[in-house]
Amino acid sequence: MAHRRTKVAIVGAGPAGLLLGALLARHNIDAVIVEQRSAEYVLSRIRAGVLEQTTVDLLREAGVVDRCLQEGLTHDGIELSFDGGLHRIDFRALTGKHVTVYGQTEVTHDLMQSRARGNLTTDYEAEDVRIEGFNGEHPVVRYVKSGVVQELTCDFIAGCDGYHGICRASVPPEAISTFEKVYPFGWLGVLADVPPVRHELIYANHERGFALCSQRSKTRSRYYVQCSLDDQVDQWSDDAFWDELRRRLPAEIAEAVTTGPSIEKSIAPLRSFVAEPMRFGRLFLAGDAAHIVPPTGAKGLNLAATDVGYLAQGLVEYYHEGSAAGLDQYSARCLSRVWKAERFSWWFTSLMHRFPEAGAFGSRLQQAELAYLVGSRSASSALAENYVGLPL
Ligand code: FAD
Ligand code: DHB
Repeated sequence: MAHRRTKVAIVGAGPAGLLLGALLARHNIDAVIVEQRSAEYVLSRIRAGVLEQTTVDLLREAGVVDRCLQEGLTHDGIELSFDGGLHRIDFRALTGKHVTVYGQTEVTHDLMQSRARGNLTTDYEAEDVRIEGFNGEHPVVRYVKSGVVQELTCDFIAGCDGYHGICRASVPPEAISTFEKVYPFGWLGVLADVPPVRHELIYANHERGFALCSQRSKTRSRYYVQCSLDDQVDQWSDDAFWDELRRRLPAEIAEAVTTGPSIEKSIAPLRSFVAEPMRFGRLFLAGDAAHIVPPTGAKGLNLAATDVGYLAQGLVEYYHEGSAAGLDQYSARCLSRVWKAERFSWWFTSLMHRFPEAGAFGSRLQQAELAYLVGSRSASSALAENYVGLPL
């Protein structure tokens, strides 16, 4: 058996765990990351693409913002497509803010490089990860690496291990409350090396279902269509995907879509989920380990970033100022922001998707709400200020 000690043991090397590690390193707080997958596997997962300014600010604070500033695309608005027309929501005019299109893969890559440069420890391919003792003074993370049992003792555990991780699952059921909504559809996503159809993202409400035209760069597009939960990726040829996408867009946009071979294709189910509280003694949950939003509002990655921003601040106060106040406030501060993002993501999902049970009445209500949304400055502002990110 091998023993090691660190101040903060971080479980999970997704964006939440890696960003927390980077923020702590900036403040000379020792941390070790334990990840069950390989680095290559983590990098191969295609997920979010839109960063709020608060997330870019945290990347700056962590010392990993340079490539994001150089290669990220500034978007001052989005377009909504419904009833055959296209309507722009101008974030800059309505809020003075913008968002940055920069893929989660790139954020993860930059954070991994910075860890490697700093010689910081990340144990990839850790098997049978368990956490113990977080209700007492001496928490420990145990796992097996290359056949050797590892024991990592620490002051605190950061549970950054995503929705299916072991940290939340290790909390006794009576100590945790969960809130969940599962949606009756999924998103089929395609990544392709073709130029995006428009400069900005298009969110489309269509009688055949929702569609999203997103992008990763000026030469790489990310498109999604709402699909049935029974669909299998293999049933969707590239041609079938492009045909379905174009059917859900206004004619002039559909004609302008450049198609090409997919370089990734996957189906994601949609879910809203919150666990309360987010702290259990010396265990702190952050990111998808504590909450899930449906992707429509592009909030998942951004919430993960603000959680670890608050956690890093609390840990810096604890180690450098001898104050536990930030750690004591962690759960309440996060949850206040989390529930606002849950509300926005649920609302935007409800507005843009076809729900099997909604019927003709539900569809007319959506059309009326969309018409109101683009016709009212107050309603447009409410969308814009949530999309660009509510203040911390
Ligand atoms: P994760 O990225 O899930 O990272 C958790 C890490 O913990 C993983 O690397 C995992 O391997 C590791 N882990 C799990 N269990 C263990 C264990 N027992 N021991 C050690 N390590 C463990 N958001 C958007 O805004 N837009 C999108 O388009 C979008 N698409 C998505 C598509 C999918 C399929 C999924 C699952 C999520 C998507 N999201 C999207 C959400 C966004 O990607 C997440 O909110 C974000 O990844 C959260 O980061 P995280 O670090 O909290 O969790
Ligand atoms: C992307 C995903 C989203 O959920 C979203 O709202 C915007 C963009 C994307 O993957 O590019």
